[in-house]
Amino acid sequence: MHIFVTGGAGYIGSICSEELLNVGHAVTIFDNLTEGHRKAVDSRATFVNGDLAKRKDIMTAVAKAKPAAIMHFAANALVGESMTNPSKYFRNNVAAGINLLDAAVEAGVTKFIFSSTCATYGTPEKVPIDERLPQRPINPYGLSKLMFEQILNWYDKIHGLVHVNLRYFNAAGASEKFGEDHRVETHLIPNIIKVALGQRETAEIYGDKYPTPDGTCIRDYVHILDLAAAHMLALGAEKSDSYNLGCGEGFSVRQVIEVVQKVSGVPIPVKVQPPRAGDPPRLVSSSHKIISQLGWKPKFPRLLPIIESAWAWHQKYPNGYGD
Ligand SMILES: NC(=O)c1ccc[n+]([C@@H]2O[C@H](COP(=O)([O-])OP(=O)(O)OC[C@H]3O[C@@H](n4cnc5c(N)ncnc54)[C@H](O)[C@@H]3O)[C@@H](O)[C@H]2O)c1
Repeated sequence: MHIFVTGGAGYIGSICSEELLNVGHAVTIFDNLTEGHRKAVDSRATFVNGDLAKRKDIMTAVAKAKPAAIMHFAANALVGESMTNPSKYFRNNVAAGINLLDAAVEAGVTKFIFSSTCATYGTPEKVPIDERLPQRPINPYGLSKLMFEQILNWYDKIHGLVHVNLRYFNAAGASEKFGEDHRVETHLIPNIIKVALGQRETAEIYGDKYPTPDGTCIRDYVHILDLAAAHMLALGAEKSDSYNLGCGEGFSVRQVIEVVQKVSGVPIPVKVQPPRAGDPPRLVSSSHKIISQLGWKPKFPRLLPIIESAWAWHQKYPNGYGD
């Protein structure tokens, strides 16, 4: 199949593109490189440097590629920034995304995989979180993703755009070639690894008085290669649906720090900071639906191989993509 990948120069999009190419799909990557990196674009893919906000750019690129499916990773994804600059999130994640949907309809594309997020649930009523829980985002980032899910629903009803919303929990880890190098890094694992590499002094713990066994927040980490595998399975979906994408097990911030310490052999000094507003104590996915309906079977459902792969990549590329 020919897959059109927006945001394929970013962390998740680059590795999903690599995996698509590995199994023989053709890939066109569309990215404006504001957050992504040219070096993260697989050399086997066709690259289009374009911006979703420029309607002509995206209409032309999709019409030219005539893809069988679109995977839409491109977005702004910093929760904190969305609380100070909501306009950026609604413009890029919603308005610019509509240009892509129109391009899909005009080119006759009927399959669409969307990178959604557990942030659409807000602070959940119960954990593990399954897809039937109400979606009540508590920040503009989460709302922008929920709005796009809702818009997709209408594009299916009106234009027959079959779509799969994959609501990721915490994507982590690396392939051999590509890894996590966000320009502003807010993710826990790469930031602890930076301490192990001597690039940061301390690992920050935001709050240690949460109602969890060690007082720090608990999150669900999913290996980037398992996440890529879920995208391939979603290509086969015949009707629109939404799936949570996490491993169903939670690890606290302190547990993650311990595993990085073990894998790297470097002691990690920590600094406890005040809790961040709107950080729920526990976010753990129920993965039953994606396992039973799409046949997803994570190969690396443990924290150790996730951190080992991330550590290996960061050791090989201590300055990330270097741009
Ligand atoms: N990283 C996670 O743990 C996580 C969790 C839940 C959801 N997500 C979602 O997954 C997707 C990918 O996340 P990521 O961590 O790889 O982010 P990323 O920032 O590394 O990648 C996003 C890519 O999209 C590109 N982009 C952004 N706006 C664009 C535009 N207007 N036109 C063209 N390209 C544009 C950026 O240059 C970048 O390469 C995002 O939609 C994010 O919301 C990520």
